[in-house]
Formats: sequence, C-alpha cells, structure tokens
Amino acid sequence: MVRLVTVHPALVHLPIGLAPIAALAYLVAVTRRSRLRAARWTFAGDFALVAAALFALAAAAFGLVSSDLLDWSGGLDRWRWIHLGGGVAAAALLASLAVLRLARRRRPVGRGFLAASLGTLAVLLFTGWVGGEVLVYYAGMAVRGGALGTLSPPLEKPGTPSGFKDAMGRMRGELSAVTAEAQRMVVEHPRDATFNAAAGHAAALEQVADWLGEHPESFEKIERKHERGRGRPPEVALVGGHDEATDPEVEIANYAVILGDGARELLAAARSHDLMGLSLAAGRLRAGCAGCHESVRWRP
Ligand code: HEC
Repeated sequence: MVRLVTVHPALVHLPIGLAPIAALAYLVAVTRRSRLRAARWTFAGDFALVAAALFALAAAAFGLVSSDLLDWSGGLDRWRWIHLGGGVAAAALLASLAVLRLARRRRPVGRGFLAASLGTLAVLLFTGWVGGEVLVYYAGMAVRGGALGTLSPPLEKPGTPSGFKDAMGRMRGELSAVTAEAQRMVVEHPRDATFNAAAGHAAALEQVADWLGEHPESFEKIERKHERGRGRPPEVALVGGHDEATDPEVEIANYAVILGDGARELLAAARSHDLMGLSLAAGRLRAGCAGCHESVRWRP
C-alpha cells in the first residue's frame, strides 16, 4: 500500500543511486586525454546528474510531507532537523549543479566541478544515513512495528536534560528501551547482557526523574518562552491562572517522586534479574506518565 509518508523513503533511492553514477562519470571524464571521450563521459554524468536532481527535489518535497504528517516522539528532534536540513541542502546542491551543467553542457567538466559533485554526494550520503540508520532503523520512525517511533530507545547519551521537554524525550527513550529489553526477554531467553542493558536505562531514567524533581520550574520556562513569542505553546491545561490545587510546580515535584521511585524499582528488578518484577515496574512507571499526561498535559 502506498501512503503519503512512505513516498519519501521510496523516492530517496533514486537520487542516492544516481548521484554516485554522475560523480563517477565526471571522474572518468576529467581523467580522459581525448576530448571526444571526455565529452562522452561528461554527457553520461550530466544525464545522471539532471535525473538525480529531479528525483532529489521530489524526494525532498515528499520528505517535508512526511516530516509534517508524522508524529515525532520526544527525544528525536535533533536528528529530525539534521535530516531535514541535510535533505533540503542536498536537493538544492544537486539542483544548482544540474542547472550549471545545463547552462554549459557543450563544455566538458573540470576538476572544480568534480570536487563540487563529490562534496554534494557526501552531503547526500550523510543525510541518507541519518534517515535510514538513525531515524528508521534505530528510532523506528514511520514503522508500524516500532509503534511509529514511540518505542524507540534513546538517541542521546545519558546526561543532564537541557529543559522540561528534553527530560520528557529522554524519559520516553529510556523507558521504551527498558520495556523493549523486558519484552525481548519474555519472547527470547533472558540473558545477563539484556538485564544489564535494562539496568543502564533504568539508571538513566532515575537520573532524569531526579533532575525533574530538582527543576519543577523547568516547565514554566516553556510557558515564559512562549509568552515572549518563541516556541509552540506548551500542551498543557495549566497555562495561565492556575490555582493552588493545580500549581504545576507542585504537580511536577509530586510526579517526579513517583517517577524516581518507579525508576529505582526498575533498577532493582533489573539488577536482581527479576523479569516479572521488571515487567511490572515498567508498566507501573508508564502508568505514572499516563496519569500526568491525562491530568496535566491533555486535561480539557
Ligand atoms: C509532571 C507531569 C508529567 C509526567 C509525570 C510526565 N510527563 Fe511527559 N509531558 C508533560 C507535559 C506537561 C508535556 C507537554 C510539554 C509541552 O508541550 O510543552 C509532556 C510532554 C511529553 C512528551 C513530548 C515531548 C516533546 O518533545 O514534545 C513526551 C515524549 C513525554 N512527555 C513522555 C513522558 C514519559 C515517557 C513519562 C514517564 C516516564 C512522562 N512523560 C511523564 C507532563 C508530564
């Protein structure tokens, strides 16, 4: 079945396949002594380049469609924008090179142009690597079996969150990783290495929960940033006029304790190789996330 979001990953193969052919043909062209041979190889390169540019523009356009239509799970943002920037840059570079060649198609290519096409190829391949390896293979974006990215393990190394949303994205990644490890051990054979991996993620989760407890004001920074005209409005029902009972700082501090305790419970289960305990603790922790999202994030 063809969906709007799967057109982009189908199209990208064309420029990724054609651009190296163009670069190779130009490479052969600049090394030919005979003018006739150089002209023929240049023609082959030009043909592949123009085709690559056209498909790259289409792939970039559908890339923007995918970027807009997909829901982006927290914690993937940096790679999302690197991929988008790289894709737009690669398509623009290929299109500029193609226009240059069409304007001078009677002249054979020189070393400068060869270098430019190799540079463009590098941008294109890096962008393709980010899309295929980081976003699809690792993060499971737009993959149904990966819950469309929501079950992807963390993309950032454990560390101090840069703000509230970063903390949310990190917790999502770490909890997903623990859930996936526990699930793997339900289906496959439990192994020490898998328990150890789960323990590592549980420890990282604990660190973020503790950070959240120490920074209950982090949420209000999003509100203030938005009030200053930057960033999206926070998805929260507490914005403006919150009363005592629903003060977000109190709410966040309370939940941070629940999350921290949940993370320590996870860690203990992983360390004692208790698969049932690990599965239960992961479910309880996720229920904590769901509780706050229902009461704070999405409350009508
Ligand atoms: C204290 C309440 C609270 C708890 C507990 C909580 N969240 Fe959140 N979460 C929020 C709010 C509020 C937002 C919306 C922030 C915004 O849009 O500005 C949010 C947003 C998110 C996002 C989207 C981040 C982004 O970049 O847009 C993710 C992912 C997330 N939470 C995951 C989790 C996970 C996983 C847990 C449990 C380990 C959890 N949250 C626990 C309140 C909470």
